Amino acid sequence: MADDPLFDEFELNGHTLDGRVGLAPMTRTSATGDGRPTDRMARYYASFARGGFSFLVTEGVHPDATHSQGYRNQPGLAIDEQATAWEPVVDAVHEAGSPIFAQLMHAGAQSQGNRYGFGPVAPSSYRPPGEMAELYGGSGEFPEADGLDDEGLDDVKAGFVAAAERAHDAGFDGIEVHAANGYLLHEFVDPLVNDRDDEYGGSPANRARFPAEVTAAIDEATPDAFVVGIRASQAAVTDEERVWPDGEATAAALFGALSEAGADYVHVTGGDATAPEVPDTDRTLAELAVEHVDDGVAVIANGSLGDPDRARAAIADGADLITLGTGALANHDWPNRVQAGEPLDDLDPGVVFQPDASLSDAEVPGDD
Ligand SMILES: Cc1cc2nc3c(=O)[nH]c(=O)nc-3n(C[C@H](O)[C@H](O)[C@H](O)COP(=O)(O)O)c2cc1C
Repeated sequence: MADDPLFDEFELNGHTLDGRVGLAPMTRTSATGDGRPTDRMARYYASFARGGFSFLVTEGVHPDATHSQGYRNQPGLAIDEQATAWEPVVDAVHEAGSPIFAQLMHAGAQSQGNRYGFGPVAPSSYRPPGEMAELYGGSGEFPEADGLDDEGLDDVKAGFVAAAERAHDAGFDGIEVHAANGYLLHEFVDPLVNDRDDEYGGSPANRARFPAEVTAAIDEATPDAFVVGIRASQAAVTDEERVWPDGEATAAALFGALSEAGADYVHVTGGDATAPEVPDTDRTLAELAVEHVDDGVAVIANGSLGDPDRARAAIADGADLITLGTGALANHDWPNRVQAGEPLDDLDPGVVFQPDASLSDAEVPGDD
């Protein structure tokens, strides 16, 4: 397809991306037991860069060595040894030609595997519905998470900042703050979880405050060229039907606060990026983000965009960039194939999700 908008260049905070299609963050629980990424992970990530993805977001990475870890074998940026072990991953992706951003994820109440011996925390005490995900090595009910006090909030923020600094030192081009999918920072935004009666709870502006403060603190602590993005959603891993009950009021407060906090991009995710999923609006999450962020802030859309025409529709609706999750797992070279007019493969769940989310040999070049 001549002049395909999916392959237009885009300037993201001084980085020239050679297309609009990035890799979505995906947890693969394949690090060592003490949270160090491996050579297999380097080969896995580099394959997406070789396949034409113009930027990569890593799986959720725990930022601190207390409460933040979500899953066993989740990689960290909580201690220097973990950061050093990321360097070969970053180098392999750079050699294959793409920038890579580390997704910093504090699991909050959805934590289901913590090697540091700490229990889960949340904005206020909270037990997620349902059972822990077997896909990520958990089973049984979640314990009730403790509500964070002021000192706890300071520790969380300091943990995010230190992890972002370690990411910078390891050579990452930026970080993405995970404020989506029901993890800690999303739990602040979500009035069904956040029961605080201080300046971090209640109104949409108060609920947006902590994620925005974390973003601003990282932005201040890292160089200008270092990309600081943030991811937002309505749904949680433990409740896929969850929406913002007050619809656009939360969207406006959240996106406005993140933009003011210095975010370089806002990455929105939902079940279908082309559908209006926010109550009482007729716009997509990405359209709402475009409306409520400043001009210089890029908007990334995610959710069921693996069909190239749907990806193009999201761009036509105003998203600057899109990311692919499952579509990328099925086709590590999705951009190269689409650009060449070649057919795409369907995802084989037996390869990716059996027996769990950890990397299968067939997904790692050199292992198959
Ligand atoms: C195996 C797997 C792991 C995931 N882990 C993360 C994660 O660590 N962080 C995150 O923000 N989203 C995570 N997601 C969600 C994806 O980033 C993406 O939002 C979702 O797959 C929908 O996009 P898609 O329709 O292109 O697959 C994960 C998805 C999958 C399939």
